Amino acid sequence: MSLNAKKSSALIALSLVFLVLAAAFVTSSSNGKPARDAIPLVNTNFLSTATVRQSYGELVRLKADLSDFDCYACHEKGKPPVIRFDTNQFIIIPKEHGNILMGHGSHNRNNNCFNCHNELNLEQFQSRDGRELKFSESTQLCGSCHGPTYRDWEGGAHGRTGGYWNDASKTTRRNCVECHNPHAPKFPGRQPAPGPHSLRAVPPAAETHLAH
Ligand code: HEC
Ligand code: HEC
Ligand code: HEC
Ligand code: HEC
Repeated sequence: MSLNAKKSSALIALSLVFLVLAAAFVTSSSNGKPARDAIPLVNTNFLSTATVRQSYGELVRLKADLSDFDCYACHEKGKPPVIRFDTNQFIIIPKEHGNILMGHGSHNRNNNCFNCHNELNLEQFQSRDGRELKFSESTQLCGSCHGPTYRDWEGGAHGRTGGYWNDASKTTRRNCVECHNPHAPKFPGRQPAPGPHSLRAVPPAAETHLAH
């Protein structure tokens, strides 16, 4: 074979390879774009803006059942209920109050009902500084013992602030009991919401790098 013939047969072979490749690209279904993972739908509980609890104030607003707060439907006026303790000095919760799980603070430091409820008027709270507060004023009650957190809350650093950046008169702050159960206030751990989906595919390694 002459040098020229060798050259042209190599060129023909190469052209064939490129033709086959071109055909493969044209017929492949990905249409030139890399395949992207389907974006899963987000669990709708992550989209809810409601607080984790409904406070007394919220129940009033919703005209919901308030019988739990009608203390004197069961108790006698002028006769404070007697708090009973078991042999380990844990408060015994009567079955009529079976919905209450008491556990306020480490070592149940603040479990005594009358640290908050007024024994002489069950339908009111009593704060550490001697104020008598209505059921709808429980944030003041919490604030009477949790001064630093209360100041953070007033300043918008604790809890949830809502409203408009250019109109301070419309600022709202959610009350403590809309997030904390007053009887067992430790905030339970929550599942984190999924991260955002980027428009362009980021390789998983880069994604973890960005997240930290
Ligand atoms: C459905 C009836 C009912 C309602 C409503 C009710 N109680 Fe009671 N409560 C009871 C009974 C029964 C007991 C146990 C007997 C007793 O101590 O009188 C009790 C006991 C208590 C005790 C003593 C708890 C203990 O662990 O020993 C406190 C404090 C108390 N109630 C506060 C309240 C307050 C405050 C309200 C209103 C916000 C209220 N109760 C509403 C029925 C009720
Ligand atoms: C740290 C303060 C605090 C202590 C201690 C406390 N409570 Fe309460 N309790 C509250 C607040 C605040 C509310 C109203 C919460 C709301 O707005 O949802 C409430 C609501 C209630 C209610 C009406 C709603 C319901 O959950 O049934 C009852 C009854 C009650 N408490 C009984 C008791 C009893 C009995 C004890 C003692 C075993 C006790 N509380 C201890 C602060 C306290
Ligand atoms: C009479 C004083 C008093 C009042 C009123 C009071 N607390 Fe407390 N709170 C305490 C004490 C004491 C502890 C325990 C601190 C510790 O263990 O170091 C505590 C602990 C807590 C904790 C931390 C719980 C944990 O286990 O990490 C939260 C949250 C809390 N309180 C929220 C509230 C809320 C919300 C209110 C109003 C409904 C409230 N407190 C009213 C005294 C009070
Ligand atoms: C919008 C919800 C929300 C509101 C409103 C809210 N808290 Fe909390 N609070 C939380 C969460 C969530 C945590 C737990 C933070 C954590 O575990 O890191 C917490 C933690 C706490 C703790 C534990 C100690 C700490 O500072 O980490 C205290 C005490 C407390 N809150 C008191 C209050 C009081 C008092 C109010 C009202 C003046 C209030 N909170 C209002 C959500 C709220």
